[in-house]
Amino acid sequence: MPAGFQQLGGERITGTLALSVFTAVLGSLEFGYNIGVINAPQQIIEQDYNATWMHRYSEPIPHGTLTSLWSLSVAIFSIGGMFSSFSLGVVSEWLGRRKAMLINNLFAFIGGALMAMSKLCQSFEMMILGRFIIGAYCGLASGLVPMYVGEIAPTSLRGALGTLHQLAIVTGILIAQVLGLESLLGTKELWPVLVGLTVLPTVLQMALLPFCPESPRFLYIVRCQEHHAKSSLRRLTGRLEVAEDLAEMKEEKRRMDMERKVSILELFRSPFYRQPIIIAILLQLSQQLSGVNAIFYYSTSIFQKAGVASPVYATIGAGVVNCAFTIVSLFLVERMGRRTLHMLGLGGMCLCAVVMTIALALLDSVPSMSSISMLAIFGFVAFFEVGPGPIPWFFVAELFSQGPRPAAMAVAGCSNWTANFFIGMFFPYVAHLLGPYVFLIFAILLLFFFFFTYFRVPETRGKTFDQISACFQHNTPTMMDMDMDMDMGMGKPSTELDYLGGDDEAN
Ligand SMILES: *[C@@H]1O[C@H](CO)[C@@H](O)[C@H](O)[C@H]1NC(C)=O
Repeated sequence: MPAGFQQLGGERITGTLALSVFTAVLGSLEFGYNIGVINAPQQIIEQDYNATWMHRYSEPIPHGTLTSLWSLSVAIFSIGGMFSSFSLGVVSEWLGRRKAMLINNLFAFIGGALMAMSKLCQSFEMMILGRFIIGAYCGLASGLVPMYVGEIAPTSLRGALGTLHQLAIVTGILIAQVLGLESLLGTKELWPVLVGLTVLPTVLQMALLPFCPESPRFLYIVRCQEHHAKSSLRRLTGRLEVAEDLAEMKEEKRRMDMERKVSILELFRSPFYRQPIIIAILLQLSQQLSGVNAIFYYSTSIFQKAGVASPVYATIGAGVVNCAFTIVSLFLVERMGRRTLHMLGLGGMCLCAVVMTIALALLDSVPSMSSISMLAIFGFVAFFEVGPGPIPWFFVAELFSQGPRPAAMAVAGCSNWTANFFIGMFFPYVAHLLGPYVFLIFAILLLFFFFFTYFRVPETRGKTFDQISACFQHNTPTMMDMDMDMDMGMGKPSTELDYLGGDDEAN
């Protein structure tokens, strides 16, 4: 770890904490890999579908059938994710965070094996089923990883470590983009290896998980095992004296014991939770409906239309920008706060979307617009990773205390996957309809989410889970008035709430 990172927030990063976070985010890496991997070898795999069809029915595959089969192969990933993210609450309570991650790897094995063998067995059904199962894996991983990391991280490092989930996702996308190049694994013979490589992080994660402690919050608050929670805390903090951390959890548990058990329906019915769950859902929607996946699924063809000389390398360039700015966000998130960064990201994306639209519209009359549109796309991706990329994932976990958290994360995950599905499915049709103006739709949505964040989303940096949920419970009637004047001055405490936990600036 770099020294500056270790000092962040004044909390030491122990070997065990680093190992546990690294092991957990291998799941995110795999998630990213499977988002990116399907993009480059599309035409090659389509040819194989065609060959299979020829072999079975002795006639070339009808064009419409091929398109449907391919869309299904891509989109069924989100359907798998939608289903499994909904079961997150049950699975994470029943097995515990660590064992759930361990067992979830079975899905990755089965899914990866099905996809890798589909060419050999001449069966596109296996490919589609494999994508569904790997989607189910990713749905669970995208909930379990931020949950586990958020629970083992010290308060002052929660945001920075939470961002590692997103960093691993974008690294996975980049690895898949690079390996998918025609000079590497994106060939007619090697694409099964490309899709099968997804089992590698799984093997590594399974080997390392036994050395990671279970989340102390889960052990203490859910399982009531104070002794185990203590020894897990000792390993994570490297301190013998963990009374302070335990006291914080005790306080959370005490409050939780007073809460009734919260089901998904109650999340929407209870006035205590309605406000935070709406925020959680809208933050997830702001991530997906920002249009960033439209770039990631279709960037190559967008670059092609924009007249960029080598669109595949421009796509990889976007992947590099994506990674670089996730790292920037990692260092900013505990300094500037989630709310500020999210708004900065949304605002910047909106601006880039407008520039992109103008550049694409003027392309025919002004040839130099092609490089401007490329820069706008890079900027769009960069601003995404500053805020809307990483923040919604761990923000949801921060908005809720232990009781409603699993249900809330299931709802948030499900909305994220649903939005993801719709973007992947319908962007090509809308883009075909509107041409260069398609990104104006995203600009309008981004503007809406920007104002929503401005008026409704509270700052959570440096607060304990308890202080955050208290902020919603004590102020239910006046919540909306309160949010408006909260943390306007960047990082300067403007309400009492900021004083409670906002002491990380002093370090
Ligand atoms: C499928 O393959 C056949 C023969 O190899 C070819 O003529 C046809 O154009 C292909 N169909 C599609 C949709 O690619």
